[in-house]
Amino acid sequence: TWTIGNIAEEQVERVRAQIGETGRAICGLSGGVDSAVAGAIVAKAIGERLTCVYVDHGLMRKGESEQVERDFVAATGAKLVVVDAEKQFLDALAGVSDPETKRKIIGREFIRTFEAAQSDIIEAAPEGTTVGFLVQGTLYPDVVESGHGAGAATIKSHHNVGGLPEDIEFELVEPLRTLFKDEVRAVGAQLGLPDVIVQRQPFPGPGLGIRIIGEVTRERLDILREADAIAREEMTRAGLDHDIWQMPVVLLADVRSVGVQGDGRTYGHPVVLRPVTSEDAMTADWARLPYEVLERISTRITNEVPEVNRVTVDITSKPPGTIEWE
Ligand code: XMP
Repeated sequence: TWTIGNIAEEQVERVRAQIGETGRAICGLSGGVDSAVAGAIVAKAIGERLTCVYVDHGLMRKGESEQVERDFVAATGAKLVVVDAEKQFLDALAGVSDPETKRKIIGREFIRTFEAAQSDIIEAAPEGTTVGFLVQGTLYPDVVESGHGAGAATIKSHHNVGGLPEDIEFELVEPLRTLFKDEVRAVGAQLGLPDVIVQRQPFPGPGLGIRIIGEVTRERLDILREADAIAREEMTRAGLDHDIWQMPVVLLADVRSVGVQGDGRTYGHPVVLRPVTSEDAMTADWARLPYEVLERISTRITNEVPEVNRVTVDITSKPPGTIEWE
């Protein structure tokens, strides 16, 4: 019979066969579902011959890095290298407001940091073994979309660390290649990953960096993290997580408006709630959230986050508005 348990076991067996008895692998974790489940499968297949790498760029939401550092490790027993790169990313983003420039900087710093970590892992590998495999969370729809057939692909990775060849060739390990998203979630749950990881809604790679309209600073990130955490908490409490595709919370950091909070006049920032429903993110409709939920989110954010004195809701569909604001 065909069950999720069988699928998980079959993928574990396949990975074991592909990597063999002595091969070693690296898996980059993003905080998202796909890389976590791919990592969990490979961890089960080859144990400590897998090293996971998590680049903490400082642009994650409240509690998300802890989900990787604590919950993923607890569920899988995987070996994890965490690179705390917050300062590096924020320094690189200093003074930058343009969305595309932000994305380019974040992408560049990410590759740099990940490849440096990769080099360290390769150098530290025990004598006589080779780290030749790179785990990727490619799903079936990605395979179809890019027109790639069956078979293991290889990629080149550039290294600039002394003593290593310039280019390292990795064979890709893609244990989710035959699966759809809902199957990936089921396999993840089967492997013991917690709901906060497997039921996570989509979140962009550049993280909160593209949800602060204006320059990205540590202070602004902290403000947005607090507001976003409240919004997520209230959505979960209202049982709405499965009714929406995602709900970005956006900080209009360069905008100020007058308000009254506590005993006096304030001159604070607005946040925008962007709840949407969607099938595939190509198009989206603004989600008609219950007024009581919107009211609770608004009251709590303006009470609990002193820098925010206005909560607004984005009622634009896609098109014309994209889901994210940048
Ligand atoms: P837009 O804003 O284009 O977003 O309507 C569509 C979906 O893609 C996500 N998104 C990203 N995901 N890296 C990602 O991994 C990115 O740079 C990125 N930009 C947008 C967005 O959250 C939505 O689900």
